Amino acid sequence: MKAWKGRFSKAATSSADEFNASIEFDQRLYKDDIKGSIAHATMLGKQGIIAKEEADLIVKTLKEIEADIDAGKVEFTIESEDIHMNIETVLTERIGDVGKKLHTARSRNDQVAVDIRLYLKDEIAAIDALLKTLMSTLSDLAETHQNTVMPGYTHLQRAQPVTLAYHLLAYYQMFKRDASRFADCLARMDYLPLGSGALAGTTYTTDRDFLADELGFKGVCPNAMDAVADRDFAIEFISCCSITMMHLSRFCEELILWSSVEFSFVEIDDAYSTGSSIMPQKKNPDMAELIRGKSGRVYGDLMSLLTICKGLPLAYNKDLQEDKLPVFDAGDTLKASVNIFTEMIATMKVNGDNMEHAAKYGYMNATDAADYLVTKGIPFRDCHEIIGGIVLHCINKGIAIEEMSMEEFKSFSDKFEDDIYDKIAIRSCIEAKKSKGSTSFESVKQQLADIRKEK
Ligand code: ARG
Repeated sequence: MKAWKGRFSKAATSSADEFNASIEFDQRLYKDDIKGSIAHATMLGKQGIIAKEEADLIVKTLKEIEADIDAGKVEFTIESEDIHMNIETVLTERIGDVGKKLHTARSRNDQVAVDIRLYLKDEIAAIDALLKTLMSTLSDLAETHQNTVMPGYTHLQRAQPVTLAYHLLAYYQMFKRDASRFADCLARMDYLPLGSGALAGTTYTTDRDFLADELGFKGVCPNAMDAVADRDFAIEFISCCSITMMHLSRFCEELILWSSVEFSFVEIDDAYSTGSSIMPQKKNPDMAELIRGKSGRVYGDLMSLLTICKGLPLAYNKDLQEDKLPVFDAGDTLKASVNIFTEMIATMKVNGDNMEHAAKYGYMNATDAADYLVTKGIPFRDCHEIIGGIVLHCINKGIAIEEMSMEEFKSFSDKFEDDIYDKIAIRSCIEAKKSKGSTSFESVKQQLADIRKEK
């Protein structure tokens, strides 16, 4: 029997019931729903809105129901529509009229709003832990690869030599900002909507500050209509997920390239690769490709929820029931992706020799050769042109800049001396960087020391 049966002269068709129901997907909120209801019942008892013994009985029974759901002993029904009504129905089946008092001074609108916030607070804590593991895996890898030289790219063209540690620490910073974005999202989400009623507040002398304390919120939503109407916190959450997925996806794209025979910079462990059903030689980076693909799914979740919310008049509208699918999907996808990604990079083999070989051939010391001429008093633009000519000459001869003879150097500029060979050696190019945050061995060591301090 429906909670609103009094007003109705006809039952919903089974098709309408089915269409209306969210129990299939919102049942995963049962722990949050029960947590919220326990706090609410306790508050009702404390305030004398219901009798203390009634509150105690409701709390005790809700705990039993939770244990029974844990054990798979509770059967949810479509007729009871959503997780809130399902639990209330079971409660009333067990303790009769007292169960019917739980919903005093509450609406499903503030109930579902508090459930999602409770769910997301836990979700953010779980994501934070996964991101921290990823970050320490990256800094450990960077620690190991401070001496591994590789090409740094722009436009996917070899640009300047860097170290793998430096490249990894670039991602470290991105994931660090991702974690802090989730923390910001949490800080704004951390206000209690419960006690808002349907949209206008309630006539009871409730104690919302007590509820906020009980449920671990920093404070109470200051406007009840806002509290039940908006899902900006959920949009922000999916937006944080999307940005993190974008970072993972870029890194995956690199791993896919790097593990190709053409690059051969890394080899992804067999345990995180797949084969081909037809081509016996194949070893495919499926995990990385899937993360890259799943980033598109998460962006879709973000667009879904933005679009669901965009035309809604205040306050609650049933459209908001659709918020859960993208919220759950974005969180699930992100957690699974961060987790597998961390395992994959922790176990992949780095081919440092191939990286260094690639760094040597690609004229990546051209900027350093130009900088050398600057130290000899030639304006940078002129140096750029001189070295450009040298590179063209070397390309035609199929040699590296440092493979030119001294006479050849002199034919381009009489400012070249023997020390040019030292100055444009690949490691010297890295070593020579002086600006804060550069790829120099010294700077990377400093970046790692700063990271260790953060921990
Ligand atoms: N299942 C609903 C949702 O997820 C709960 C709130 C229902 N409120 C209402 N007024 N029908 O949004």
